[in-house]
Amino acid sequence: MTERLIAAAQAALKKAYAPYSKFQVGAAISTENGEIFSGCNVENAAYPLGCCAEASAISAMVMAGHRKISAVAVAGIGEVLTTPCGGCRQRLREFAADNIPVYVCDERELRLETTLADLLPLSFGPENLADNPAGQLD
Ligand code: THU
Repeated sequence: MTERLIAAAQAALKKAYAPYSKFQVGAAISTENGEIFSGCNVENAAYPLGCCAEASAISAMVMAGHRKISAVAVAGIGEVLTTPCGGCRQRLREFAADNIPVYVCDERELRLETTLADLLPLSFGPENLADNPAGQLD
């Protein structure tokens, strides 16, 4: 299962559209029922409009009707670890408990196994909003 997830992230990396940064990233998400959704980074000539691999994978998952992430793999190339950017940690948190495993990989192998909580401690998620009764501050 973990092997399949990592392989999906590494396959997604090969699809990256990264002509500006030349930094290819792939991500793969598994859902509760074991389905895997993957995505790559898609850059744009208007640089800030580029989309991270994790965001692409999340879109694919939501489009298929899923809302719960049970594990994530991210793959990049080179010696330096390709850990999810800050924005993507929060994007993942929207659909994941904070104890889910995050597998940080390169194009060949698993380099680091961590958790979303380690990457995003004391995170703010949907439950935090639910704790604030609507209209309380009005
Ligand atoms: N990138 C991702 O796709 N995911 C991350 O978590 C880190 C950064 C992409 C965005 C951009 O296309 C390239 O890597 C360089 O920042």
